[in-house]
Amino acid sequence: MDPSSIVPLFQPLPFPAPIWLLETLLILGFFLHALPMNVVLGGGFLSAALIFSGRNNKESFSYRAGKALATSLPLFISFAVTQGIVPLLFVQLLYGPAFYTSSILMAVPWISVIFIVLISYYMSYVVIYRYFKNGAMQNTAGIVKSSMLLLVMSVGFALVGFLFSNNMTLMLSPEKWLSMYSHNANGLNLNLGEPQLIPRYLHFLVASFAVAGMTLGIFGLYIAKRDADFSKYMIVFGSKLYLGATLLQVPVGFWYLKSLPAGMAQRFMGGDTIGTAVFGASMVFMLVAIIATAMACTNANKKMFLVGLTANALTILAMIFNRHQLRVWLLTHVQPSTVPVATQWDLLITFVVSAVALIVYLVWLSKLCVKAFAAPVQAPDGERLAAQ
Ligand code: HEM
Repeated sequence: MDPSSIVPLFQPLPFPAPIWLLETLLILGFFLHALPMNVVLGGGFLSAALIFSGRNNKESFSYRAGKALATSLPLFISFAVTQGIVPLLFVQLLYGPAFYTSSILMAVPWISVIFIVLISYYMSYVVIYRYFKNGAMQNTAGIVKSSMLLLVMSVGFALVGFLFSNNMTLMLSPEKWLSMYSHNANGLNLNLGEPQLIPRYLHFLVASFAVAGMTLGIFGLYIAKRDADFSKYMIVFGSKLYLGATLLQVPVGFWYLKSLPAGMAQRFMGGDTIGTAVFGASMVFMLVAIIATAMACTNANKKMFLVGLTANALTILAMIFNRHQLRVWLLTHVQPSTVPVATQWDLLITFVVSAVALIVYLVWLSKLCVKAFAAPVQAPDGERLAAQ
């Protein structure tokens, strides 16, 4: 059967902005979602492991690093959720006929994402307010319980990511939709038979540990002036974790490439000029990140760590671009280019002005937070003042 006969039509309204702009916002929006989402995904597991391994000594670097990471998680979760809305809007607009259909086919697990995120988010606060701030960490049992709670929370987030990968791959396969609907018309489907699913999901999961390592290193940079030894521990440990996860990513990445439908991997390796250039750039960025963090591992060199951090962010951005290209190549039955465009300049200008204002506000807010957490200053009369 020709899959195009069952793919729904686009809405009759024209797009409110040029397609290249909508695609750019989708890619950048997903990048802004992917960064905090990776911290949450890998950071949750990492904080559980670090707290557990330091359970017998609350002064150990392992315990302190795990606690710092766990305390920061609610902030990253809120960023991941709010930044998830951006690609959600653009993916619906550009690929609605595919995305809505796959979401309906797996409606029950898909809607459960909201509840799993809510419960896991709540757990991250329980750990902070019932354990860290309530004296429950005085004994080893309390510490072990808090790390177990973090583990359950992380499994919840890992499940959310898995459901996303199911939907993101199912929307690319219209040929499966009818048989899936005949199999279960009540939204109780998953895309488990998809060869791409496991390697694609693992690619995200392994990357999240690399990003969690980088996050720990950032914490190390942040406290460098106040606690040099602890700072060194976090930069070195974070860099080592990044290196380990990224080396593991090499076979996972090849597996993912191999699992793609016929001809797709070749497009990244010479078949498509832009695809190959961006893929090549991502490999170069990854190499730079590996070399720089390997150097940071040996002596906690802050400059090298920053080079690795920047190269890693660029690797992620390039990979997200490749991921978008893959969707465009595979979605031959859903072509946004067939939809007319009637640019609404007034709305577009309002959007751009609001976005710029929001960025300025966030930069100001971040600076304020950094100052608020800075070391307390000594007042002339000896009284300790908290930095404003
Ligand atoms: C905090 C828990 C979350 C985790 C761990 C998570 C994880 C993921 C993962 C792994 C993907 C990539 C799937 C793939 O391409 O195979 C993804 C994509 C996506 N996520 Fe999240 N996510 C989370 C929360 C959210 C929320 C709450 C939203 C919406 C408000 C959201 C919106 C999106 C969108 C729209 C995409 C696809 C973007 C695109 O295809 O361009 N995510 N997420």
